Amino acid sequence: MTELLAVSSQQRIGLAVVLVMLVSWVLFLLSASKRTYEPGIELTAAPNRKVYYDDEGMEGKRLTKYLWWAFGSLAISAIVLPVIWVREPFRQEGAGLDRGKEYFHEEAVKRGEWYFEASPGDPPTPREPHYGCENCHGKKGVGGVAQYTLTDPSKPDAIPQQVQWVAPPLNTVMLRFRHDEVKFILTYGRAGTPMPPWGIAGGGALNDQQLEDLIAYLEHIKLDPKEVKEANLKEYGTDGQKLFEAFCARCHTQGASYGQPSVQGGGALGPDLTGGATLRQFPTVEQHVSWVTETVEVGKQYGQRGIASGRMPFFGDMLTPEQIKAIVEYERSL
Ligand code: HEC
Ligand code: HEC
Repeated sequence: MTELLAVSSQQRIGLAVVLVMLVSWVLFLLSASKRTYEPGIELTAAPNRKVYYDDEGMEGKRLTKYLWWAFGSLAISAIVLPVIWVREPFRQEGAGLDRGKEYFHEEAVKRGEWYFEASPGDPPTPREPHYGCENCHGKKGVGGVAQYTLTDPSKPDAIPQQVQWVAPPLNTVMLRFRHDEVKFILTYGRAGTPMPPWGIAGGGALNDQQLEDLIAYLEHIKLDPKEVKEANLKEYGTDGQKLFEAFCARCHTQGASYGQPSVQGGGALGPDLTGGATLRQFPTVEQHVSWVTETVEVGKQYGQRGIASGRMPFFGDMLTPEQIKAIVEYERSL
Protein backbone atom coordinates (compact mmCIF):
# COMPACT_ATOMS: atom_id res chain seq x y z
CA MET A 1 0.00 0.00 0.00
CA THR A 2 2.80 2.42 0.88
CA GLU A 3 4.22 1.66 -2.55
CA LEU A 4 0.98 2.77 -4.17
CA LEU A 5 0.95 5.96 -2.12
CA ALA A 6 4.54 6.85 -2.94
CA VAL A 7 3.64 9.22 -5.78
CA SER A 8 5.69 12.15 -7.02
CA SER A 9 4.53 15.75 -6.69
CA GLN A 10 3.75 15.90 -10.44
CA GLN A 11 1.47 12.91 -10.04
CA ARG A 12 -0.18 14.57 -7.03
CA ILE A 13 -0.84 17.76 -9.03
CA GLY A 14 -2.17 15.69 -11.93
CA LEU A 15 -4.51 13.79 -9.61
CA ALA A 16 -5.73 17.09 -8.09
CA VAL A 17 -6.51 18.47 -11.58
CA VAL A 18 -8.41 15.32 -12.51
CA LEU A 19 -10.35 15.48 -9.23
CA VAL A 20 -11.32 19.15 -9.74
CA MET A 21 -12.47 18.33 -13.28
CA LEU A 22 -14.55 15.38 -12.14
CA VAL A 23 -16.19 17.39 -9.34
CA SER A 24 -16.94 20.27 -11.74
CA TRP A 25 -18.53 17.93 -14.24
CA VAL A 26 -20.74 16.38 -11.56
CA LEU A 27 -21.83 19.86 -10.33
CA PHE A 28 -22.51 21.01 -13.89
CA LEU A 29 -24.57 17.95 -14.74
CA LEU A 30 -26.55 18.27 -11.49
CA SER A 31 -27.33 21.94 -12.15
CA ALA A 32 -28.13 21.24 -15.82
CA SER A 33 -30.60 18.55 -14.87
CA LYS A 34 -32.46 21.02 -12.61
CA ARG A 35 -32.78 23.74 -15.26
CA THR A 36 -36.21 24.23 -16.83
CA TYR A 37 -36.78 25.72 -20.24
CA GLU A 38 -40.07 27.45 -20.94
CA PRO A 39 -40.99 28.24 -24.56
CA GLY A 40 -39.69 31.66 -25.64
CA ILE A 41 -37.15 31.99 -22.82
CA GLU A 42 -34.24 32.00 -25.33
CA LEU A 43 -35.31 35.45 -26.56
CA THR A 44 -33.96 36.94 -23.33
CA ALA A 45 -31.57 34.22 -22.17
CA ALA A 46 -29.53 33.44 -25.30
CA PRO A 47 -26.68 35.94 -25.85
CA ASN A 48 -27.02 35.81 -29.65
CA ARG A 49 -30.62 36.97 -29.41
CA LYS A 50 -29.82 40.15 -27.46
CA VAL A 51 -29.58 43.42 -29.28
CA TYR A 52 -25.89 44.32 -29.65
CA TYR A 53 -24.05 47.63 -30.27
CA ASP A 54 -24.76 49.48 -33.49
CA ASP A 55 -21.88 50.40 -35.88
CA GLU A 56 -21.25 53.69 -34.12
CA GLY A 57 -20.96 51.99 -30.74
CA MET A 58 -18.53 49.33 -31.99
CA GLU A 59 -16.15 51.47 -34.00
CA GLY A 60 -15.88 54.43 -31.70
CA LYS A 61 -14.26 54.63 -28.31
CA ARG A 62 -14.77 50.91 -27.68
CA LEU A 63 -12.64 49.84 -30.63
CA THR A 64 -9.92 52.35 -29.76
CA LYS A 65 -9.85 51.04 -26.20
CA TYR A 66 -9.32 47.45 -27.36
CA LEU A 67 -6.65 48.49 -29.85
CA TRP A 68 -4.73 50.24 -27.07
CA TRP A 69 -4.91 47.11 -24.92
CA ALA A 70 -3.58 45.03 -27.81
CA PHE A 71 -0.80 47.52 -28.45
CA GLY A 72 0.09 47.57 -24.77
CA SER A 73 0.43 43.79 -24.44
CA LEU A 74 2.36 43.58 -27.72
CA ALA A 75 4.77 46.26 -26.46
CA ILE A 76 5.27 44.37 -23.22
CA SER A 77 6.14 41.13 -25.07
CA ALA A 78 8.39 43.02 -27.47
CA ILE A 79 10.36 44.57 -24.63
CA VAL A 80 10.30 41.77 -22.07
CA LEU A 81 11.19 38.88 -24.40
CA PRO A 82 14.53 40.36 -25.54
CA VAL A 83 15.36 41.22 -21.95
CA ILE A 84 14.80 37.58 -21.00
CA TRP A 85 16.98 36.42 -23.88
CA VAL A 86 19.72 38.91 -23.02
CA ARG A 87 19.85 37.36 -19.59
CA GLU A 88 19.71 33.76 -20.83
CA PRO A 89 23.45 33.02 -21.16
CA PHE A 90 24.11 34.35 -17.65
CA ARG A 91 21.24 32.30 -16.34
CA GLN A 92 22.63 29.14 -17.95
CA GLU A 93 26.06 29.91 -16.57
CA GLY A 94 24.55 30.48 -13.15
CA ALA A 95 22.62 27.23 -13.30
CA GLY A 96 25.89 25.61 -14.39
CA LEU A 97 25.46 23.37 -17.41
CA ASP A 98 28.39 21.35 -16.12
CA ARG A 99 26.73 21.06 -12.77
CA GLY A 100 23.61 19.90 -14.60
CA LYS A 101 25.60 17.17 -16.31
CA GLU A 102 27.10 16.15 -12.98
CA TYR A 103 23.64 15.96 -11.49
CA PHE A 104 22.42 13.65 -14.26
CA HIS A 105 25.54 11.53 -13.89
CA GLU A 106 25.03 11.19 -10.13
CA GLU A 107 21.45 10.13 -10.70
CA ALA A 108 22.58 7.53 -13.26
CA VAL A 109 25.14 6.13 -10.80
CA LYS A 110 22.47 5.92 -8.11
CA ARG A 111 20.12 4.01 -10.39
CA GLY A 112 22.97 1.76 -11.54
CA GLU A 113 23.73 0.93 -7.91
CA TRP A 114 20.10 -0.03 -7.30
CA TYR A 115 20.14 -2.36 -10.28
CA PHE A 116 23.45 -3.84 -9.14
CA GLU A 117 22.28 -4.59 -5.61
CA ALA A 118 20.59 -7.83 -4.58
CA SER A 119 17.68 -6.46 -2.57
CA PRO A 120 16.11 -3.15 -1.60
CA GLY A 121 18.76 -1.20 0.27
CA ASP A 122 18.35 0.89 3.37
CA PRO A 123 16.21 2.97 3.07
CA PRO A 124 14.31 0.66 0.69
CA THR A 125 13.83 1.85 -2.88
CA PRO A 126 10.63 0.07 -3.87
CA ARG A 127 10.26 1.99 -7.11
CA GLU A 128 13.60 0.78 -8.53
CA PRO A 129 14.12 -2.87 -9.43
CA HIS A 130 17.18 -4.81 -8.26
CA TYR A 131 18.87 -7.21 -10.65
CA GLY A 132 21.32 -8.74 -8.19
CA CYS A 133 24.64 -8.46 -10.01
CA GLU A 134 26.22 -8.55 -6.55
CA ASN A 135 24.88 -12.05 -5.92
CA CYS A 136 27.57 -13.33 -8.29
CA HIS A 137 30.04 -10.44 -8.60
CA GLY A 138 30.16 -9.56 -4.90
CA LYS A 139 29.22 -6.40 -3.06
CA LYS A 140 30.52 -3.33 -4.90
CA GLY A 141 31.82 -5.72 -7.58
CA VAL A 142 34.81 -7.13 -5.66
CA GLY A 143 34.34 -10.48 -7.40
CA GLY A 144 32.66 -13.72 -6.37
CA VAL A 145 31.43 -17.08 -7.59
CA ALA A 146 28.32 -18.33 -9.33
CA GLN A 147 26.67 -21.74 -9.15
CA TYR A 148 26.53 -23.37 -12.57
CA THR A 149 25.31 -26.64 -14.00
CA LEU A 150 27.59 -28.12 -16.64
CA THR A 151 26.13 -30.50 -19.15
CA ASP A 152 28.15 -32.52 -21.63
CA PRO A 153 26.48 -32.56 -25.06
CA SER A 154 28.49 -35.64 -26.01
CA LYS A 155 27.05 -37.53 -23.00
CA PRO A 156 23.37 -36.57 -22.79
CA ASP A 157 22.67 -39.32 -20.23
CA ALA A 158 25.40 -38.27 -17.81
CA ILE A 159 24.39 -36.51 -14.59
CA PRO A 160 24.92 -32.74 -14.97
CA GLN A 161 27.82 -31.45 -12.92
CA GLN A 162 27.46 -28.63 -10.38
CA VAL A 163 30.43 -26.25 -10.40
CA GLN A 164 31.44 -22.96 -8.79
CA TRP A 165 32.26 -20.57 -11.62
CA VAL A 166 34.45 -17.57 -10.82
CA ALA A 167 32.65 -14.28 -11.47
CA PRO A 168 35.34 -11.70 -12.17
CA PRO A 169 35.69 -8.50 -10.13
CA LEU A 170 33.83 -5.61 -11.74
CA ASN A 171 35.57 -2.79 -9.88
CA THR A 172 38.31 -3.14 -12.49
CA VAL A 173 36.18 -4.00 -15.51
CA MET A 174 36.25 -0.38 -16.76
CA LEU A 175 40.07 -0.58 -16.60
CA ARG A 176 40.03 -3.57 -18.93
CA PHE A 177 37.28 -2.89 -21.45
CA ARG A 178 36.05 0.06 -23.48
CA HIS A 179 32.59 1.44 -22.77
CA ASP A 180 30.98 -0.17 -25.83
CA GLU A 181 32.65 -3.51 -25.12
CA VAL A 182 31.15 -3.59 -21.63
CA LYS A 183 27.78 -2.67 -23.09
CA PHE A 184 28.05 -5.59 -25.49
CA ILE A 185 28.85 -8.00 -22.62
CA LEU A 186 25.93 -6.68 -20.58
CA THR A 187 23.56 -6.89 -23.54
CA TYR A 188 24.39 -10.44 -24.58
CA GLY A 189 25.91 -11.90 -21.40
CA ARG A 190 28.43 -14.73 -21.96
CA ALA A 191 26.82 -17.72 -23.57
CA GLY A 192 28.04 -20.97 -22.00
CA THR A 193 28.87 -19.26 -18.68
CA PRO A 194 26.65 -18.21 -15.73
CA MET A 195 26.63 -14.61 -16.96
CA PRO A 196 23.10 -14.06 -18.34
CA PRO A 197 22.15 -11.60 -21.06
CA TRP A 198 20.63 -8.37 -19.71
CA GLY A 199 19.92 -6.16 -22.73
CA ILE A 200 16.74 -6.42 -24.76
CA ALA A 201 18.69 -7.37 -27.90
CA GLY A 202 20.18 -10.33 -26.00
CA GLY A 203 16.84 -11.44 -24.62
CA GLY A 204 17.20 -9.65 -21.27
CA ALA A 205 14.95 -7.16 -19.52
CA LEU A 206 17.04 -3.99 -19.39
CA ASN A 207 16.64 -1.09 -21.82
CA ASP A 208 19.46 1.06 -23.13
CA GLN A 209 19.11 3.65 -20.36
CA GLN A 210 19.37 0.99 -17.67
CA LEU A 211 22.49 -0.53 -19.25
CA GLU A 212 24.05 2.95 -19.37
CA ASP A 213 23.14 3.45 -15.70
CA LEU A 214 24.87 0.18 -14.81
CA ILE A 215 27.96 1.25 -16.75
CA ALA A 216 27.91 4.62 -14.95
CA TYR A 217 27.93 2.67 -11.70
CA LEU A 218 30.77 0.38 -12.85
CA GLU A 219 32.70 3.53 -13.81
CA HIS A 220 31.93 4.94 -10.34
CA ILE A 221 33.30 1.89 -8.44
CA LYS A 222 36.36 1.68 -10.73
CA LEU A 223 39.58 1.44 -8.71
CA ASP A 224 42.60 3.66 -9.25
CA PRO A 225 44.85 1.98 -11.88
CA LYS A 226 48.00 2.90 -9.96
CA GLU A 227 46.81 1.12 -6.83
CA VAL A 228 45.59 -1.87 -8.85
CA LYS A 229 48.99 -2.21 -10.50
CA GLU A 230 50.80 -1.96 -7.16
CA ALA A 231 48.54 -4.59 -5.58
CA ASN A 232 48.93 -6.95 -8.56
CA LEU A 233 52.70 -6.54 -8.56
CA LYS A 234 52.78 -7.39 -4.85
CA GLU A 235 50.56 -10.41 -5.27
CA TYR A 236 51.85 -11.96 -8.51
CA GLY A 237 55.30 -10.47 -9.07
CA THR A 238 56.62 -11.01 -12.60
CA ASP A 239 56.04 -14.75 -12.90
CA GLY A 240 54.57 -15.21 -16.38
CA GLN A 241 52.76 -18.45 -15.66
CA LYS A 242 51.24 -17.22 -12.37
CA LEU A 243 50.09 -14.05 -14.12
CA PHE A 244 48.61 -16.04 -16.99
CA GLU A 245 46.67 -18.24 -14.56
CA ALA A 246 45.37 -15.21 -12.70
CA PHE A 247 44.37 -12.98 -15.61
CA CYS A 248 44.20 -14.95 -18.86
CA ALA A 249 43.40 -18.59 -18.12
CA ARG A 250 39.70 -18.00 -17.43
CA CYS A 251 39.25 -17.18 -21.11
CA HIS A 252 42.12 -19.04 -22.75
CA THR A 253 42.03 -22.33 -20.78
CA GLN A 254 38.94 -24.50 -20.86
CA GLY A 255 37.70 -25.19 -17.32
CA ALA A 256 39.97 -22.68 -15.56
CA SER A 257 36.94 -20.73 -14.30
CA TYR A 258 35.67 -23.67 -12.26
CA GLY A 259 38.88 -25.25 -11.06
CA GLN A 260 39.21 -27.96 -13.74
CA PRO A 261 41.74 -26.50 -16.17
CA SER A 262 42.49 -28.59 -19.24
CA VAL A 263 45.37 -27.73 -21.61
CA GLN A 264 46.89 -24.46 -20.39
CA GLY A 265 46.18 -21.79 -23.04
CA GLY A 266 44.38 -24.41 -25.13
CA GLY A 267 41.50 -22.07 -25.88
CA ALA A 268 37.99 -21.43 -24.55
CA LEU A 269 36.25 -18.09 -25.05
CA GLY A 270 39.62 -16.83 -26.30
CA PRO A 271 41.53 -18.69 -29.02
CA ASP A 272 44.06 -21.47 -28.58
CA LEU A 273 47.46 -19.94 -27.82
CA THR A 274 49.48 -23.15 -27.87
CA GLY A 275 51.68 -24.81 -30.48
CA GLY A 276 53.31 -21.55 -31.52
CA ALA A 277 50.00 -19.90 -32.46
CA THR A 278 51.04 -16.58 -30.91
CA LEU A 279 54.39 -16.67 -32.75
CA ARG A 280 52.54 -16.89 -36.04
CA GLN A 281 49.96 -14.27 -35.07
CA PHE A 282 52.61 -11.86 -33.71
CA PRO A 283 55.93 -12.22 -35.56
CA THR A 284 57.46 -9.63 -33.22
CA VAL A 285 57.28 -9.47 -29.42
CA GLU A 286 56.35 -5.77 -29.68
CA GLN A 287 53.14 -6.60 -31.61
CA HIS A 288 52.23 -9.20 -29.01
CA VAL A 289 52.93 -6.82 -26.10
CA SER A 290 50.92 -4.06 -27.74
CA TRP A 291 47.91 -6.37 -28.18
CA VAL A 292 47.92 -7.47 -24.54
CA THR A 293 48.56 -3.91 -23.32
CA GLU A 294 45.85 -2.09 -25.25
CA THR A 295 44.19 -4.43 -27.77
CA VAL A 296 42.37 -2.60 -30.63
CA GLU A 297 38.83 -1.46 -31.25
CA VAL A 298 36.17 -3.84 -32.59
CA GLY A 299 36.67 -4.65 -36.25
CA LYS A 300 40.26 -3.39 -36.41
CA GLN A 301 43.13 -5.63 -37.37
CA TYR A 302 45.70 -7.02 -34.93
CA GLY A 303 48.73 -9.19 -35.56
CA GLN A 304 48.98 -11.02 -38.88
CA ARG A 305 45.41 -12.21 -39.33
CA GLY A 306 43.45 -11.13 -36.29
CA ILE A 307 40.25 -9.07 -36.30
CA ALA A 308 39.26 -7.78 -32.89
CA SER A 309 35.80 -8.64 -31.60
CA GLY A 310 35.96 -6.43 -28.50
CA ARG A 311 35.87 -9.46 -26.20
CA MET A 312 39.56 -9.51 -25.20
CA PRO A 313 40.35 -7.14 -22.30
CA PHE A 314 43.45 -4.92 -22.30
CA PHE A 315 45.85 -4.98 -19.38
CA GLY A 316 47.83 -1.73 -19.55
CA ASP A 317 45.85 -0.33 -16.60
CA MET A 318 46.08 -3.53 -14.54
CA LEU A 319 49.63 -4.82 -14.95
CA THR A 320 53.08 -3.23 -15.25
CA PRO A 321 55.01 -3.40 -18.55
CA GLU A 322 57.37 -5.94 -16.94
CA GLN A 323 54.48 -8.19 -15.99
CA ILE A 324 52.99 -7.99 -19.48
CA LYS A 325 56.38 -8.85 -20.97
CA ALA A 326 56.59 -11.86 -18.66
CA ILE A 327 53.14 -13.10 -19.71
CA VAL A 328 54.00 -12.62 -23.38
CA GLU A 329 57.20 -14.62 -22.96
CA TYR A 330 55.22 -17.38 -21.24
CA GLU A 331 52.59 -17.39 -23.99
CA ARG A 332 55.20 -17.58 -26.73
CA SER A 333 56.56 -20.73 -25.07
CA LEU A 334 53.22 -22.53 -24.94
C1 HEC B 1 24.39 -15.74 -12.06
C2 HEC B 1 25.60 -15.02 -11.79
C3 HEC B 1 25.80 -13.68 -12.45
C4 HEC B 1 24.97 -12.58 -12.42
C5 HEC B 1 23.64 -12.44 -11.72
C6 HEC B 1 25.65 -11.54 -13.14
N1 HEC B 1 26.84 -11.99 -13.62
FE1 HEC B 1 28.16 -10.93 -14.72
N2 HEC B 1 29.34 -12.59 -14.94
C7 HEC B 1 29.13 -13.79 -14.28
C8 HEC B 1 30.21 -14.69 -14.61
C9 HEC B 1 30.40 -16.11 -14.07
C10 HEC B 1 31.06 -14.01 -15.49
C11 HEC B 1 32.33 -14.54 -16.15
C12 HEC B 1 31.99 -15.35 -17.35
C13 HEC B 1 33.22 -15.93 -17.98
O1 HEC B 1 33.87 -16.76 -17.37
O2 HEC B 1 33.52 -15.52 -19.13
C14 HEC B 1 30.49 -12.68 -15.67
C15 HEC B 1 31.04 -11.68 -16.46
C16 HEC B 1 30.63 -10.36 -16.44
C17 HEC B 1 31.30 -9.28 -17.11
C18 HEC B 1 32.58 -9.41 -17.93
C19 HEC B 1 33.75 -9.22 -17.01
C20 HEC B 1 35.06 -9.74 -17.52
O3 HEC B 1 36.08 -9.25 -17.05
O4 HEC B 1 35.08 -10.66 -18.34
C21 HEC B 1 30.62 -8.14 -16.84
C22 HEC B 1 30.95 -6.74 -17.29
C23 HEC B 1 29.50 -8.51 -16.00
N3 HEC B 1 29.53 -9.86 -15.78
C24 HEC B 1 28.55 -7.61 -15.50
C25 HEC B 1 27.41 -7.99 -14.81
C26 HEC B 1 26.37 -7.08 -14.41
C27 HEC B 1 26.41 -5.58 -14.59
C28 HEC B 1 25.40 -7.83 -13.81
C29 HEC B 1 24.07 -7.37 -13.29
C30 HEC B 1 23.19 -6.70 -14.22
C31 HEC B 1 25.86 -9.20 -13.83
N4 HEC B 1 27.07 -9.27 -14.43
C32 HEC B 1 25.15 -10.25 -13.29
C33 HEC B 1 28.06 -14.10 -13.46
C34 HEC B 1 26.98 -13.29 -13.21
C1 HEC C 1 37.46 -12.03 -21.15
C2 HEC C 1 38.16 -13.06 -21.88
C3 HEC C 1 39.65 -12.91 -22.13
C4 HEC C 1 40.64 -12.72 -21.21
C5 HEC C 1 40.51 -12.55 -19.71
C6 HEC C 1 41.87 -12.69 -21.95
N1 HEC C 1 41.64 -12.88 -23.28
FE1 HEC C 1 43.02 -12.97 -24.75
N2 HEC C 1 41.57 -13.13 -26.13
C7 HEC C 1 40.22 -13.20 -25.88
C8 HEC C 1 39.50 -13.26 -27.12
C9 HEC C 1 37.99 -13.34 -27.27
C10 HEC C 1 40.47 -13.20 -28.14
C11 HEC C 1 40.23 -13.20 -29.66
C12 HEC C 1 40.37 -11.82 -30.20
C13 HEC C 1 39.10 -11.02 -30.22
O1 HEC C 1 38.01 -11.63 -30.19
O2 HEC C 1 39.16 -9.77 -30.27
C14 HEC C 1 41.74 -13.13 -27.49
C15 HEC C 1 42.94 -13.09 -28.16
C16 HEC C 1 44.17 -13.14 -27.57
C17 HEC C 1 45.42 -13.25 -28.26
C18 HEC C 1 45.59 -13.36 -29.76
C19 HEC C 1 45.41 -14.77 -30.19
C20 HEC C 1 45.30 -14.96 -31.67
O3 HEC C 1 45.85 -15.95 -32.16
O4 HEC C 1 44.66 -14.14 -32.34
C21 HEC C 1 46.39 -13.24 -27.32
C22 HEC C 1 47.89 -13.35 -27.55
C23 HEC C 1 45.76 -13.12 -26.04
N3 HEC C 1 44.41 -13.07 -26.21
C24 HEC C 1 46.44 -13.03 -24.86
C25 HEC C 1 45.82 -12.82 -23.63
C26 HEC C 1 46.53 -12.57 -22.41
C27 HEC C 1 48.04 -12.47 -22.28
C28 HEC C 1 45.61 -12.42 -21.42
C29 HEC C 1 45.84 -12.14 -19.97
C30 HEC C 1 46.76 -11.08 -19.62
C31 HEC C 1 44.32 -12.59 -22.05
N4 HEC C 1 44.48 -12.82 -23.37
C32 HEC C 1 43.12 -12.52 -21.36
C33 HEC C 1 39.63 -13.24 -24.64
C34 HEC C 1 40.28 -13.01 -23.44
